[in-house]
Amino acid sequence: MARTPLLAGNWKMHKDHLEAIQLVQQVVYHLDERDYERSEIVVIPPFTALRSIQTLIDGDRLHIGLGAQHCHYEDAGAFTGEISPAMLAKLAVRYVVCGHSERRHVFGEDDETINRKVRAVLAHDMRPILCVGETDEERERGQAKEVVARQVQRGLEGVDVDRADDIVLAYEPVWAIGTGKTATPSDADEMCGFGRNQLADVFGEDAAQRIRVQYGGSVKPGNVAELMRQEQIDGALVGGASLQADDFAAICRYHRM
Ligand code: 13P
Repeated sequence: MARTPLLAGNWKMHKDHLEAIQLVQQVVYHLDERDYERSEIVVIPPFTALRSIQTLIDGDRLHIGLGAQHCHYEDAGAFTGEISPAMLAKLAVRYVVCGHSERRHVFGEDDETINRKVRAVLAHDMRPILCVGETDEERERGQAKEVVARQVQRGLEGVDVDRADDIVLAYEPVWAIGTGKTATPSDADEMCGFGRNQLADVFGEDAAQRIRVQYGGSVKPGNVAELMRQEQIDGALVGGASLQADDFAAICRYHRM
């Protein structure tokens, strides 16, 4: 079964709304139908740039999608500083990152909170990108698979199999994020395959074969093609390299390398 690759740039806390517009314009300048037909391309800017990018995508009919990095699980309420999935849906946001390791480790989000977010995102007809991955210490202790299994299973608890096609899983080993250390293509492939096995446990084998599993962690123009050649890897969640227009465009053109 052919799964459409998903190439997404998670900008994290970078780029004000003006820089964001410039970056998107520069990225699309380097892309054409060959890239849009091949893959789904998504940018995930900070909240403050969502409206500007949505307007740009709409006005110029750009073939890229919009994602958000985070949200609360309630629709509205006294949650100072939070943004709701309902608000994101109004901005034509298609994807919401749930459980990024920085949210887990810096902001203390646990599997239960992440699961509530996943379900809230689906309830608003958006697609969660559920991030999972082990730390360096967990890998050293031989616990990588145990951690990923728990994060997948608990993150997706209570999600109906009918919604399986709207799920994206991102395997992002914490030790590879922002470090320049990439998992070898075969290790990344094995762990993405393991993530898919967990999806099969939750949703059944057929649905698991349709769900896209991304790899994330120091993806660059120089390593993307080899990663994308792996059978179990259906895309990339790109941090640092998505902030450079040339680099992110080159990643989106991986199939032409
Ligand atoms: P880097 O590509 O900077 O390693 O970040 C990966 C990441 O965390 C994407 O969500």
